Amino acid sequence: MGAVYKNLLKPLFFKLDPERAHELTVDSLRVMRAIPGLSRFLGVFNQLPSAAKPVEVFGVSFPNRIGLAAGFDKNAVCWEAFEAFGFGHVEIGTVTYKAQPGNPRPRLFRYPQHDAVLNRMGFNNHGAQFVAARLAKQPGPGERRIPLGVNIGKSKVAPLDKAVEDYLGSFALLADHADYVAINVSSPNTPDLRKLQEESRLRELLGELVAANAAREASKAGSRKPILLKIAPDLTDGQVDDIVQILHDLKLDGIIATNTTMAREGPFEEINQAGGISGRPVCEMSTKMIARIAKLTEGKLPIVGVGGITDPDTAAEKLDAGASIVQVYSGMIFEGPLIAKRVAKRLAADSGDL
Ligand SMILES: Cc1cc2nc3c(=O)[nH]c(=O)nc-3n(C[C@H](O)[C@H](O)[C@H](O)COP(=O)(O)O)c2cc1C
Repeated sequence: MGAVYKNLLKPLFFKLDPERAHELTVDSLRVMRAIPGLSRFLGVFNQLPSAAKPVEVFGVSFPNRIGLAAGFDKNAVCWEAFEAFGFGHVEIGTVTYKAQPGNPRPRLFRYPQHDAVLNRMGFNNHGAQFVAARLAKQPGPGERRIPLGVNIGKSKVAPLDKAVEDYLGSFALLADHADYVAINVSSPNTPDLRKLQEESRLRELLGELVAANAAREASKAGSRKPILLKIAPDLTDGQVDDIVQILHDLKLDGIIATNTTMAREGPFEEINQAGGISGRPVCEMSTKMIARIAKLTEGKLPIVGVGGITDPDTAAEKLDAGASIVQVYSGMIFEGPLIAKRVAKRLAADSGDL
């Protein structure tokens, strides 16, 4: 199957416009998901042996240490199919409270010479209500074979001073369906979004979400969900210090490091389109940030490591730096979906999960 991707599917996909290739892939996976038992059957060959120890992080039990990062399945149409390739979780979204079309096309570009992708999608998605209705028809928390994270972000139409209400609206609609909720304040393609990483704004936003989460539990309207913050790799050390302090004060469940980068340094400066870069250019930045967070928190805050994983070695570096689990997106475009199986095996062996 690895060879099928490299020799057959990848050359075909790479002839197509990147977003068209993405849509075709999502459509194929949607069909695959709809065939009863197929993803589960294929997963038997690609998941870890059943004797492997599940990985318990922030109260969620993962069958292995690699998941699919946010941005691939924005509307929760095909995520269950990823079990087939060995993924141990999927993060859907980013979902915004209001449905929105995203930025004009073209907005997705590949740089195979750098194992890099650039996107300025701008949170194209069907909106929280629509996605919640779809998730309500799918297996819910506790009934799933691989956990599901729901990543939420700010609607483009919501001004910065209404961002809290906007996130709270999405949280209220989607939390029931999530095994964890990721708060995205780090995508570069929504004007002002990254300003929510600033100290006072972030404290307010996360404080309100934590309060809403506690209220769910107290009112028995639902259980408390793990809340994680997803950050950019372009933060200064001082900003990371502030963020870690906020997460500690508010007892957040974890951090996802990192999103795409705005930096264009060294060999990557030729990538001169507007948007966020992912894949190899972000790998070292993200690993360094993981190491810094792990040091600041003395390893006590669970870290989901993401950014530039292209093989088992780059994934293992994230665990060595302090991540508990990892995610991949761009690496899958260049290496195929079975990258998950290879990474899961290596991380399980390194961590003594087998
Ligand atoms: C096409 C594309 C779309 C993305 N969309 C989102 C998104 O909607 N929300 C989000 O939090 N991250 C999004 N990301 C960022 C990824 O989740 C991930 O953090 C980043 O790409 C680094 O990982 P990678 O190098 O393995 O791709 C997107 C990435 C790509 C390539």
